[in-house]
Amino acid sequence: MNLFDVYPSFNVEPVKGEGPYIWDKNGKKYVDFYGGHAVMSIGHSHPYYVQKIESQLRQLGFYSNSTQNPLQEAFAQKLAQMSGYSDYRLFLCNTGAEANESAFTLASHHTGRNKILTFTKGFHGRTSAARSVTDLPKIASVNAQHQVVKVSLNDIDTVQKHLQTRAFAAVIIEGVQGFGGIYVPDSQFVEQLAEVCKATQTVLILDEIQSGYGRTGKFFAHQYTHICPDVITIAKGMGNGFPIGGMLISPDFKPWKGMLGTTFGGNHLACVAGMAVLEIIEQENLMTNAAKVGQYLKQKLKGIVGIKEVRGKGLMIGLEFDFPVQALREQLLYDYQVFTGISGSHVLRILPPLTITQSDADWLVGALQDILCQIMINYEL
Ligand SMILES: Cc1ncc(COP(=O)(O)O)c(C=O)c1O
Repeated sequence: MNLFDVYPSFNVEPVKGEGPYIWDKNGKKYVDFYGGHAVMSIGHSHPYYVQKIESQLRQLGFYSNSTQNPLQEAFAQKLAQMSGYSDYRLFLCNTGAEANESAFTLASHHTGRNKILTFTKGFHGRTSAARSVTDLPKIASVNAQHQVVKVSLNDIDTVQKHLQTRAFAAVIIEGVQGFGGIYVPDSQFVEQLAEVCKATQTVLILDEIQSGYGRTGKFFAHQYTHICPDVITIAKGMGNGFPIGGMLISPDFKPWKGMLGTTFGGNHLACVAGMAVLEIIEQENLMTNAAKVGQYLKQKLKGIVGIKEVRGKGLMIGLEFDFPVQALREQLLYDYQVFTGISGSHVLRILPPLTITQSDADWLVGALQDILCQIMINYEL
């Protein structure tokens, strides 16, 4: 059987990882400035994380949510302590799209409304409703049936106009837009948005799937503002590669049996993986490291001639260029052994493990300086 070929991919086969480094099948070493789509928070194959999953697997790998699983409560307690959301409740699932899909269900039950407001350049996943609130042009008919309105980021007047109709169950917004090109929403806009949502009883869903878990230097990107969203969705860095997602839900929502559910969500292995990630983020001060190395890297990148704009917070950085960056990305990978991501055609996305050091950052800066210098010499000749 052949694979259903949907992923554009590089001609690299990673076989081993350690911290922010990856080795391919030929033994070549790479620095991972992409973290496999912002997934690697604590770095590859952290020994404590490996040991925790391994010993849980020997004990019990899985049983369903129809039995008691105290690992879930322990994980929720740790997440409350690390995030500061101690009075919220946790629903566990498997992926980011599933977390957002569950958030829409919750909002719809809570408000009795169906419409969702979202933002241009937003990305929220590839399931049906999540896809319909995502700013990708190709929407198949089953996804297109959702009632969605897309508004430009930071346009509070238009948001207000729509929400005043009181027809919207929810607004969904990313802490920092990732896929769309690393755009940080204005703090004032986010605070006004929270106020309008409150005034119109619209559920505010903060999608922190890419921007959360310490990546921006705070546990959640929205914690640079003064809001408390109704629902916060999480995934990616949460499991460091183990598939786990979830929602932090404000005390205003009342659960009832059967309201939400999923077979694998919150299973034993996922809980120990998630717990180990939180413990390592705390013990190794990775949020502080993300803020410090992120700041250092941004400063250095801003000094490179040829980069049009440097955006982002902590270790969620976007580099915009005047030209399409696919060739530059390939050169970084094949000639300088640096993994990076892309947003659209002109933006490189930098989303490394939160463990990277300043000397790793210098490697990326040096590689970019070399390549851009070469491009300019060729251009002038
Ligand atoms: C902001 C955001 N939300 C949701 C998702 C979907 O997550 P998943 O691929 O785990 O379904 C992504 C994935 O890139 C994302 O970046």
